[in-house]
Amino acid sequence: MTIFVKLPHELEAMKVSGELSARVLREVGKRCQPGVSTWELDQFAEEYIRDNGGTPTFKGYGGYPASLCASVNDEVIHGIPSKDKVLKSGDIISIDIGATVDGWAGDNAWTFAVGNVAPEVKRLLEATEKSLWAGIEAARAGNTTGDIGHAVQQVAEAADMSVVREYVGHGIGRDMHEEPDVPNYGRKHRGAMLVPGMVIAIEPMVCLGRRRLKAGGDGWLVRTRDGKPAAHFEKTVAITEDGAAELISVEPDHVRPL
Ligand code: MF3
Ligand code: CO
Repeated sequence: MTIFVKLPHELEAMKVSGELSARVLREVGKRCQPGVSTWELDQFAEEYIRDNGGTPTFKGYGGYPASLCASVNDEVIHGIPSKDKVLKSGDIISIDIGATVDGWAGDNAWTFAVGNVAPEVKRLLEATEKSLWAGIEAARAGNTTGDIGHAVQQVAEAADMSVVREYVGHGIGRDMHEEPDVPNYGRKHRGAMLVPGMVIAIEPMVCLGRRRLKAGGDGWLVRTRDGKPAAHFEKTVAITEDGAAELISVEPDHVRPL
């Protein structure tokens, strides 16, 4: 197994793709409104990424046909955009987007509320975002991937929700998926040691109900088995010499909520 540590100039290059992938995600989020199809969101995202000097990381990745994943309500991840999938008030939509610039991948996800969502669904979004920030907080040199997973799991389960096990965060660099795996559950001090210069995508997938999954039937889509909604938040961070991880996928006016 090879964990790539990035040099300072490589981290600077990764911030460019990180920023673009975060910015396009925010722009897509604004467009997650009733009446909009997930195909329209994908068209917008691909154009935005290309207009800003990037290429859509996901398109063609393992045969994936689109520039983003749009997963609605009980769809957890890997929803292929479709003209037939039109958003309505009360939906939640998890958008996962990758942008590659100068050969470096950026990878981000966020779950957006469409119109007014039920209080329990709002709670799901809040708990999942909070679990992401807890994971980021644990992403420090000398800690391990298990410390991150433990932190994520604690927050999600304290809110009475469940954490997906089958899909995990990952190292990221020239490849979207590099070593190490970054699970959203686990035990302190286990897993890979975090060292300065490592860049990882932390991406909790949290279910309002049970964590069991089922395949969606098109070879990509993953749903909750119980039909209850799930959320997915992802950011890319670099491990620093000391102190907190540095956000690599950050919009220009982003305010860190911690
Ligand atoms: N962005 C996802 C991840 O975080 C992968 C997207 S699947 C793809 O790992 F095949 F569409 F790229
Ligand atoms: Co990812």
